[in-house]
Amino acid sequence: MASLYVHVPFCPTLCPYCDFHVVRRGPGWVEAYLRRLGEEAQALHARFPEALDTLYLGGGTPSYLRDRELVALFQSLPWRLAKGAEVTLEANPGTLSPGRLRLLKDLGVNRLSLGVQSFQDPVLRFLGRAHGRKGALRAVEMALEAGFRVSIDLILGLPMQEVEGDLKEAASLGVGHVSAYTLQVEKGTPFALLGLKEDPEGEAWAWSGRRRCWGKPGYSATRSPTSPGKGKRPGTTWSTGARASGSPWALRPRGSTPGRGRPMP
Ligand SMILES: C[S@@+](CC[C@H](N)C(=O)[O-])C[C@H]1O[C@@H](n2cnc3c(N)ncnc32)[C@H](O)[C@@H]1O
Ligand code: SF4
Repeated sequence: MASLYVHVPFCPTLCPYCDFHVVRRGPGWVEAYLRRLGEEAQALHARFPEALDTLYLGGGTPSYLRDRELVALFQSLPWRLAKGAEVTLEANPGTLSPGRLRLLKDLGVNRLSLGVQSFQDPVLRFLGRAHGRKGALRAVEMALEAGFRVSIDLILGLPMQEVEGDLKEAASLGVGHVSAYTLQVEKGTPFALLGLKEDPEGEAWAWSGRRRCWGKPGYSATRSPTSPGKGKRPGTTWSTGARASGSPWALRPRGSTPGRGRPMP
């Protein structure tokens, strides 16, 4: 089983809670990144030439790259894809359009991981996200209509958030997977500098909300044994140098491929 994770560090805006390795675009930066990526991919391919079963483009925000940059990125990866390979791209809702989705399909992407975080406008504003509720719903709808397997990320236990509303909305959309995290206030981020603290009570409430909303017939709730710091995420076979924040919980329709999660107590 061969898996590859490619980190694309560029983002349209830098969110005040994020401590992933991310940058905004500067003149010539994406070109330099793509050149270096191509060189590293060639060297890696010479040592590990087997076809890939999973390819994961994460970030950062890979969907923020322009069309020709995405084409160049895929062209720079010399691996063949195994039959039935899963090719995932992380995307911010604001970066998707029907044309962009067609291009991603043509490039072989078959799964999108959407950073929704919440469906509630005040919460999205608090998080400094570039999209609102409408944009999040539209992105999920477009991605499903275009035939992608869709996974969405949520952050729970936030000020002003109606946790159950977000959980129920996520479960109602027909996506194959939801990863829910609780906010981690990371040293050096704007949230930490503003003195924001993690909220154990909010986290506990989110946890129990997850049981109330997802523990219904038709869904199985699992908590991934993912350990923050190792950079593994639920239901996938890839690994990354980036750190997965928070405590991810996973939601999958019953009967779908089991991931690495274990049943919730
Ligand atoms: C690599 S990030 C983001 C993908 C994409 N750039 C986006 O933000 O839409 C993967 C997920 O980690 C979660 N995350 C990032 N920083 C976090 C933090 N400080 N606390 C909790 N969850 C966090 C978010 O749910 C995010 O969608
Ligand atoms: S949360 Fe996503 S969009 Fe925001 S800075 Fe981090 S990687 Fe970029």
